[in-house]
Amino acid sequence: MKLHLIAILSLLASITASQLPFEVTDTPYVPPHPELEARSREILAKYPLIDTHIDLPATMRTINRRPMDAIPRLNESHPGHFDLPRAKAGGLAGAFFTANAPCPGAYGRDVGPDFLNPTETVQHVLESIDLVKNTLAYYPTLMKAARTAQDVRDAFSEGKLAVLMGLEGTHGLANSLSTLRMYAELGVRYVTLTHVCHSSFASSNGGGAGTSGSTIPPAHPGNGLTTWGIELVHELNRLGVMVDLSHTSDNTARDAIKASKAPVVWTHSGARAVNNHPRNVPDDILEMIGDGPGKNNGIVLSVLFSTFIDPNNATTARVVDHIEHIAKIVGKSHVGLGSDFNGISLAVEGMEDVSKWPNMIQELLHRGWTEPEIAGIMGGNLLRVMEEVEVVKKELSNLPPSPEIYYKRTDLPAHEWGGPNMAYLAPDVQKIVVQQKRLRDEL
Ligand SMILES: *[C@@H]1O[C@H](CO)[C@@H](O)[C@H](O)[C@H]1NC(C)=O
Ligand SMILES: *[C@@H]1O[C@H](CO)[C@@H](O)[C@H](O)[C@H]1NC(C)=O
Repeated sequence: MKLHLIAILSLLASITASQLPFEVTDTPYVPPHPELEARSREILAKYPLIDTHIDLPATMRTINRRPMDAIPRLNESHPGHFDLPRAKAGGLAGAFFTANAPCPGAYGRDVGPDFLNPTETVQHVLESIDLVKNTLAYYPTLMKAARTAQDVRDAFSEGKLAVLMGLEGTHGLANSLSTLRMYAELGVRYVTLTHVCHSSFASSNGGGAGTSGSTIPPAHPGNGLTTWGIELVHELNRLGVMVDLSHTSDNTARDAIKASKAPVVWTHSGARAVNNHPRNVPDDILEMIGDGPGKNNGIVLSVLFSTFIDPNNATTARVVDHIEHIAKIVGKSHVGLGSDFNGISLAVEGMEDVSKWPNMIQELLHRGWTEPEIAGIMGGNLLRVMEEVEVVKKELSNLPPSPEIYYKRTDLPAHEWGGPNMAYLAPDVQKIVVQQKRLRDEL
């Protein structure tokens, strides 16, 4: 999700095209491998292509005073990188629509050093989930809600777009595992441990789409996961929700890989060795992923944002440079595709929107990727990871839900909630409350 989407949009409204804040070229894109077009179409028809990161709810909510008004427009044309005609043209079979709240700092809120100042993040997330669910309800013949790998396969065989949800950033949990469990019930299938801000759980690498690639000052000792964040990872494993490490600090990624009993994912990141940007994954962390002993069986899904790929050569071919670098370390069965469409201002040339996936397949064919390898990167590898996450959930099904609370919280029910003169409390409860109040006053 772009940090300053609202600011950019209002800027766009007030200036002419010649003053756009980013470069727009008029040269039409000519696919470099037209002889592979038919072959790429065949492959897209045969195997599901799943994109792990599309910020559709954020766009619908940003440009519509009443976001629900956007739903019917999705079948015609909708601003941004995604609508249904373009998704069909591109052969998209599945998409994770991200539910997120802006980082509170983006709208002038300071959560404070302990992340305790109240914000509206939960409302933003729930409104985004509601929007996705109502979009699904509006298009029963074109879309199908999916939570598992099998659901995605079923949607594909019915010719419907499989729609899944992820939560981007644990600031959206408002310091609560109860919130997480309710999001999981609503269908959220991954949680990105941070967006561009830190949370009580985890440290972010900052450096989001709206920045030049700067990191942000640490908020936690070690700039990684907190003890509370490790509890979160265990709860995600128990719930069968994927742990997403895009946007996190390097130490959060390292800590989470060590803590997770299930494969981890990066839903929209590239390779730092190809382009040195904090949103890309460094080699030493890639070394922790793969098939070998002691490695996490996770997956890195490559992003399409020009700034992360290569500001000087933002092309589909350059994205495949990232993918091949990652695959050289983690293996070709641990890579996938996660565009960040609608969360970025400018996608790379050749992959300008969701209709352009055939160009990506052509580039992979041109580089000698085999059909099974391409089926894997399109979605097969991700479905394997989803299945393994589901197996871990089954293995942990005897565990109770985590009873932990964020130890710094001061807003949990206290004696103030007992009504006037504690009229709503049973006498024995009143006694406990009075005693606790005395203890608290003595502190
Ligand atoms: C969406 O568009 C397709 C193709 O134009 C049309 O057949 C279908 O009825 C539309 N569905 C809805 C719900 O608008
Ligand atoms: C851009 O990257 C592609 C893929 O590596 C390469 O073939 C091409 O020569 C590069 N172009 C420039 C101008 O560097």
